[in-house]
Amino acid sequence: MTDRELIHEAIEARKMSYCPYSEFAVGAAILAKSGKVYRGCNIENAGYNPTNCAERTAIFKAVSEGDTDFVKIAIIGGNINTSINSYAYPCGPCRQVMREFCDPDSFRIIVAVSEDKYEEYFLKELLPKSFGPEYLQ
Ligand code: THU
Repeated sequence: MTDRELIHEAIEARKMSYCPYSEFAVGAAILAKSGKVYRGCNIENAGYNPTNCAERTAIFKAVSEGDTDFVKIAIIGGNINTSINSYAYPCGPCRQVMREFCDPDSFRIIVAVSEDKYEEYFLKELLPKSFGPEYLQ
């Protein structure tokens, strides 16, 4: 699956965003090593705190289906009333959830404005000096 194809999946995922409070719609798509792609969107809540980010929705869907090894994730987000013109970087808790399942040295995070315009990072770049599951072994 190309980066462009994964971004397309994230764009489709964003259409399902439930964001009546922030009006900031985010879509994510994560490619598992199995070859399956899992989509996620942000899901807000009147209580605000229970809101789930798009990235975590995608990861939790995958893990709950038995996929726990991942290659890369594409993320796209922006206000629902304007065209997307800036990158929606993953929040801290989402980076830490990625750290639980993804290799910091090889897992790639693609933040997109469109299928043609995107930035790419390794997880270790966005979450340096991180704490992970191996510390608890
Ligand atoms: N959001 C995400 O879906 N992913 C992130 O990494 C950052 C923020 C969502 C949560 C909330 O619904 C909206 O964007 C505004 O914060």
